[in-house]
Amino acid sequence: MTEQQTDLNKVLKQHLEMESFFAGDFSVRGGGQLFAEVPAETRPGQENSDMAQALEAIAKTVRSCRKCEIGSTRTNAVPGQGNPKTRLMFVGEAPGADEDQQGLAFVGRAGKLLTDIITAMGLTREEVFIGNILKCRPPGNRDPKLDEIDNCWPYLKQQLETIQPEIIVALGAHAARTLLDTKEAIGKLRGRFHEYKFSDDLPPAKLMPTYHPAYLLRNYSYDNRKRVWEDMMKVLKELDLPIPKKKG
Ligand code: URA
Repeated sequence: MTEQQTDLNKVLKQHLEMESFFAGDFSVRGGGQLFAEVPAETRPGQENSDMAQALEAIAKTVRSCRKCEIGSTRTNAVPGQGNPKTRLMFVGEAPGADEDQQGLAFVGRAGKLLTDIITAMGLTREEVFIGNILKCRPPGNRDPKLDEIDNCWPYLKQQLETIQPEIIVALGAHAARTLLDTKEAIGKLRGRFHEYKFSDDLPPAKLMPTYHPAYLLRNYSYDNRKRVWEDMMKVLKELDLPIPKKKG
């Protein structure tokens, strides 16, 4: 067997085991409520359809944005997608090659794992909102640059203020550090709730940093998967949603 075939087999085996950890081994009780009926007093004048329109307006601006160089190297901008009424939002780092091709967040390998995690939580992608710190793919999937984060930040900020999720899951160091305005390591930040302040007159969201799915795929260990699952169980508990039980 060639080295390349061995690597492919390893990746396949890892992925299958990962799937069973996050999805296959759990039976989902279901029955929770993940949509907030928008309370008029907290979002004056904003009905649910207004929120969808506001998000589409942000997405339109993102698609025509050329503030950074990566605005010219992208195939598609990736504004993020999901349910405007959701109580739960996932924020990643930046689109990769698959996302750049399709204009949708988390649709590649890391996205497949994120879907497994969401499924294991007893939820669907359509029930949550999934976005990123950067809306354009950095060439070669390099780390986001500080000026790119600064340029792109207003779009995510507006999305957050429009949706006002109760809980934000920050996927990986770049998302957690940007949203919390800190340089702390993800290993130190994850596993407990922090606060994300929308503005002075709105109640803050709870923010749970956890490992990025791409990091999990690269650092495949039972302990890392268990840590992410523990973080997600805290999220479910905070949302007062049922925690799926492990079978057997
Ligand atoms: N990684 C991210 O951080 N975001 C995506 O959309 C895809 C991969």
